[in-house]
Amino acid sequence: MRKKIVTANWKMNKSFTEADDLINEISELLAEKKESEALVIIAPPAVYLELAGDIASTEGEFEVSGQNIYQAESGAFTGEVSAMMLKSMNVDYCIIGHSERRKYFNESNDILKQKVDIAINNSIIPIYCCGEILPEREAGKHFEVIQKQLEEAVFHLDHDAFSNIIIAYEPVWAIGTGATATPEQAQEMHAFIRENIEKKLGKEVAGKTTILYGGSCNSKNASSLFSNPDVDGGLIGGASLVAEEFIKIVNSF
Ligand code: PGA
Repeated sequence: MRKKIVTANWKMNKSFTEADDLINEISELLAEKKESEALVIIAPPAVYLELAGDIASTEGEFEVSGQNIYQAESGAFTGEVSAMMLKSMNVDYCIIGHSERRKYFNESNDILKQKVDIAINNSIIPIYCCGEILPEREAGKHFEVIQKQLEEAVFHLDHDAFSNIIIAYEPVWAIGTGATATPEQAQEMHAFIRENIEKKLGKEVAGKTTILYGGSCNSKNASSLFSNPDVDGGLIGGASLVAEEFIKIVNSF
C-alpha cells in the first residue's frame, strides 16, 4: 500500500543509553509536534530493537525496522540475525540491500533476492535499497544499474508479494556526503522505477508502491524532495540521529 513514510536508519551508532534517550526524545516529539500523516519507521541497530519495540508499543507513534537479516531461516551462522527473530520481536520491517551492505559485506543481488524472500516468508516488509555509484552516474549508466538491481532481487515477486515491499532509491554518491540528489534527479529516477514496476507487475501495483529517497536528506531539503509526485518519503541516515532534526523531516510533507 502506497504511504508517505519517513524511515530513520541509525546505522552502527549510539550506545545503549544514547539510544534510549534518542528513542524517547523522538517518541515525545512525535506525540507533541507531528503534523504530517507520514508513517515513521525507526531502524536502530539490532541490539536495540527490543528497546525501540517496547517504546513503540506503549507510545504507538512509530514502527520499528531491522537494518539487515541473514539469508537463512536459522542455523550455524554465528553473529547473524534472522527474519524469524525480528518477527518474534514484533518487528515488521527490515532494510535490505543498503549500499553499505553491498559494499562492505559483498552482498550481491542474488544474496539480496534470498533476503527479500526470507523476509516476505516471515511477514517482514523489506525496505529494498537500490542506487548507483558516482562513476555509474557519470557514465550515464544509472538507469541500467537500478533496473538490474530491481530485476535481480525483487522482480521475481508476484503481485501479492510485491505489494508488501518498499523501495528506497539511494544514490550512493549522495549517502553521507552532503551531495543530495536534486529534486529533479530524485523524481526522474523514482518515475523510472515506477515505470519499471508497471511494466513488470502492472499499473495497480506500480501505483501502490512506496518509493523512498535516501542520501543526505535533511530538514532543509526534505520538502523539495518529498513534494515530487513519485517521491513518497525518505530513508534518513545522519539527520535521523538528532531528534529535532528528524521531526522536522517527518513534518516536511
Ligand atoms: P544519509 O544516509 O542520510 O546519512 O546520507 C542515508 C542512508 O544511508 O540510508
